Amino acid sequence: MIQALSYIVVETPHLEAWATQARDHIGMQVETVELNQCLRLRVDEKIQRFLIMKTAAVTSMSMGFEVANAAELLNITQKLKDEGYVVIEGTAQERLLRGVDGMVFFYDPDGVRIEVSYGLADADTPFVPGRPIGGFRTGDMGLGHVALITEHFEQLSHLYRNIFGFKLSDHTNAPFRVEFLHCNPRHHTIGIAHTGGPAKIYHLMLEYNDFDDVGRAYDMALTNPESIGVTLGRHINDHATSFYLKNPDDWMIELGWATRTVGPDWEPTELEGMSLWGHDRTWLPDDKREEARQILKRLAQKGLRAPVVTTTQNLNN
Ligand SMILES: [Fe+2]
Repeated sequence: MIQALSYIVVETPHLEAWATQARDHIGMQVETVELNQCLRLRVDEKIQRFLIMKTAAVTSMSMGFEVANAAELLNITQKLKDEGYVVIEGTAQERLLRGVDGMVFFYDPDGVRIEVSYGLADADTPFVPGRPIGGFRTGDMGLGHVALITEHFEQLSHLYRNIFGFKLSDHTNAPFRVEFLHCNPRHHTIGIAHTGGPAKIYHLMLEYNDFDDVGRAYDMALTNPESIGVTLGRHINDHATSFYLKNPDDWMIELGWATRTVGPDWEPTELEGMSLWGHDRTWLPDDKREEARQILKRLAQKGLRAPVVTTTQNLNN
C-alpha cells in the first residue's frame, strides 16, 4: 500500500528559474548537488522533496510515492507486474540522489514516470526556509497533492485505487470527470481529471503551516500578475485556502493552507463545484470562466460555507 507522496523529480531546461522561485517566492531550501545540473529542494526535515535536474530535452515531472519497507516494495512491484506494467529497479546512483533505501519505477498509461520507494532519509541539518516562513505541513500527510489531466481515466483510476490502495474522497462528472483520492489523512494526494484534452501535470499543492505565508506569497505573485494561474480562493472539498503560481515549466504550484483531513469513516460525495469562492482560472477560455462564476454564484446564494480547521498554525511567532 502506498502511504504518501514522498517527493517529485523535475527535469527542466529552467534550473535557475526553479531555484529562484523555490527559494525566494515559495520559501523552500535549495541545495546544490551538482552546479548548474542538479538541485535538491527541501520543505521539511527530509533530505529532499523535489529533485530538480537540468535537461536540454522536454520538461517532465515524475512522482515518488512511499511504501513502509522493502517487503511492501516487493509486494507492490509484483502487483504492478501482474497488471502488465514493466517495473524497473532504481540504480544505486538514483537511490543515493533521492536519499532512499530502495526504489523501483514504471510509466503510467499517460507516460508519467512513477517511482515507489521506502526509507526517505532525514537531512543532517535542520530545515532552513528560503524566506521567513513557518514551514510546510508534511509528516504522515506526505509532500502534498498532485492533480493530473489524463487521457486514460479508467486505467489511472484502477492503478491508484486497486493497485496502490487509494480510497475515493469525492468526485464529479461535470463539467468533466474528476476523482480525488486519498492514501493518508490528507484529503487527497491525487486528483485525476479527464477533460478531453491532452494528458498533462496540472498542479502540485504545497501546504503552509501559516495563513500569512500564503498571503505573502500572493503579494509577491501580484507584482507579476501573469504568474497567477488561479487566483486566491477556497476549495469546496479539501477546504484549502490557496492560489496557484505558474512554475518555470508552465504547470502550477498550488500554495495552500488549512486543508481538512479524512479518516476511515469518510463517505465520498459528488461535488457541486470546485471552490467555495475565488479560484478564477485565468487560463480558461472566457465561456468556461463565466460558467465557473455562475457556479460560485449559485453556491453563494445557497450560503454554502465550511469551518476553518487549523491544526498547525504557529501561535508563537
Ligand atoms: Fe489542488
